[in-house]
Amino acid sequence: MLDAAGGFGVLALDGAPPFGEEPLGFGLARAMAGEAELLTLAVRPAAQRRGIGRALFGALAGQAKTFGADMLFLEVAEGNLAAHRLYTTAGAMEVGRRRRYYTDGSDALVLRLALRP
Ligand SMILES: CC(C)(COP(=O)(O)OP(=O)(O)OC[C@H]1O[C@@H](n2cnc3c(N)ncnc32)[C@H](O)[C@@H]1OP(=O)(O)O)[C@@H](O)C(=O)NCCC(=O)NCCS
Repeated sequence: MLDAAGGFGVLALDGAPPFGEEPLGFGLARAMAGEAELLTLAVRPAAQRRGIGRALFGALAGQAKTFGADMLFLEVAEGNLAAHRLYTTAGAMEVGRRRRYYTDGSDALVLRLALRP
């Protein structure tokens, strides 16, 4: 994904115990022709609810903006309340739905975050 055109990523590391220099979370996205797409975002279970996901998402959005994107699009499973809340509290708005998008038959919600006023 990083090798794909416009691809970029962010990584959260913790130098403090108990993680040593283990990665705590990461995100991947790509930006092209004025738009960016979030490809994936994940935080290690033991490190969740410490603001890392929000920081990674903010870093990806900031990077997308520096690459010239005006909007960031992402998909989130309808039942993924944690991710949905993270994105919507960061300002992302629901703009569509992909029916039965995931292999378990659940829908994906399409969200859009405006990167510029
Ligand atoms: C979604 C995910 C990345 C969030 O990472 P995180 O580091 O725990 O998130 P943060 O601590 O930065 O939380 C930011 C906000 O997200 C929301 N949130 C996060 N986890 C939540 C949970 N379990 N329940 C409800 N809201 C949650 C809250 O609004 C939270 O803000 P608050 O702590 O001030 O209430 C993490 O749960 C994860 O890796 N999930 C599995 C992978 C995944 O679903 N990725 C998203 C794919 S679209």
